[in-house]
Amino acid sequence: MTDIINVDYRETIPNNVGLSEDRRVLKALEGWHPGYLNWWKDMGPDGFQEAMVYLRTAVSVDPKGWAKFDYVRMPEYRWGILLAPPEPNRKIPFGKHFGEPAWQDVPGEYRAMLRRLVVIQGDTEPASVEQQRHLGKTAPSLYDMRNLFQVNVEEGRHLWAMVYILHKYFGRDGREEAEELLRRRSGSEDAPRMLGAFNEKTPDWLSFFMFTFFTDRDGKMQLESLAQSGFDPLSRTCRFMLTEEAHHMFVGETGIGRTVQRTCEAMKAAGVEDTDDVAKVRALGVIDLPTIQKKLNLHYSLSLDLFGSEVSTNAANAFNAGLKGRFRETAIEDDHKLENDTYPVLKLVGGKIASVDEPALTALNMRLRDDYTRDCAKGVERFNKIIERTGIGFRLALPHVAFHRQIGEFKDVRATPVGVLMDEATWARNRDRYLPSASDGEFIASLMKPVSEPGKFASWISPPKVGIDNRPGDFEYVKIAA
Ligand SMILES: [Fe+2]
Ligand SMILES: [Fe+2]
Repeated sequence: MTDIINVDYRETIPNNVGLSEDRRVLKALEGWHPGYLNWWKDMGPDGFQEAMVYLRTAVSVDPKGWAKFDYVRMPEYRWGILLAPPEPNRKIPFGKHFGEPAWQDVPGEYRAMLRRLVVIQGDTEPASVEQQRHLGKTAPSLYDMRNLFQVNVEEGRHLWAMVYILHKYFGRDGREEAEELLRRRSGSEDAPRMLGAFNEKTPDWLSFFMFTFFTDRDGKMQLESLAQSGFDPLSRTCRFMLTEEAHHMFVGETGIGRTVQRTCEAMKAAGVEDTDDVAKVRALGVIDLPTIQKKLNLHYSLSLDLFGSEVSTNAANAFNAGLKGRFRETAIEDDHKLENDTYPVLKLVGGKIASVDEPALTALNMRLRDDYTRDCAKGVERFNKIIERTGIGFRLALPHVAFHRQIGEFKDVRATPVGVLMDEATWARNRDRYLPSASDGEFIASLMKPVSEPGKFASWISPPKVGIDNRPGDFEYVKIAA
């Protein structure tokens, strides 16, 4: 088959980009590699660097069968540089260069804009590893621990993917940016990560599942729009990253789903009907549904901020330039230039929330965010199906876009999760009904007892329906070093 590009694993840096013939880039990456390993040892999973983890490693970019599974110590993971196969005669699919051949080199006039897009994407990858580095110690099972580590090594690989682009196409300033990506730290005072949600803490496993459901899904949307890029190497690298991102969202969705399932089953078994009787539900050793809703409110609102301002000239410029497209751009039936189109944007008009038609070009962040919201809502419906099947009367819901925002139209107002505006004092009195409180956090933390016997799970979460790589229920996904 011609679409399979096998990966060269004889090299220290596995790749399908012909790195051994590209001495300049190979040397630059070899120079960066030790710093990366130091970063991984300092900021990667705390306490499990010697553990043997049942991980998948990409061995080709063929969508069917690109991975192999085996036990690996994480610092020895084969982080590779993998681009999806080139599409012959690919054309720029949007913007003012619509229909011109896709660029194989950086177009000079857009160099700075393109570098910034790559750096912002690159910065999120190590950030999430940093945010999740303590979670191994409280994993609810070896299965979950393995999934966490899989996500972590792949975020590491995504950093490699962006660093390759920087080294290969941006010369000296690319090298400097690649160094900076290893220097910034999530939550640091002097050198924080670039985006807000990536400086938040991920204190417990429910946060981790919410993060992989909501924040990795933002990642998916960003990668989808960069996969449309007229700069072909970026498009190809993002297309391959999306195959890995799918697993991250699987971890989030099944993690939340299993948590919800366990709560409902425990309530049923104990004859507890009232979902608001938080004390009674918590006494069962599970997380009550209202607290799960509060966690969802928090993570969804933080993730909405990642899309930036609803109306943005940067977004318009990146689209016009052919660098960042829309979600599934090539499947959209229009002129792909948007010069005369409008798009409805929710805005604050005279103290009220109203829909205003804005030029479609400047409303691209809003449009991508709407696509994201639809994707999230489908997942939430699947959670509601789980609750429904157990016969418990409760529904989870996405909060309104005006709720708890720090960026965009609604950053200066307070709103309830259903979008009713309120004053600051009312917000302060009600905040803990909408978002996780300190005592909610303490309760969840009290459940985070590690379970490391194969096939066993913590009290608050159901086992998965099937194992990873079809392994049986008692499979030892992580062999923790003695
Ligand atoms: Fe990623
Ligand atoms: Fe991810």
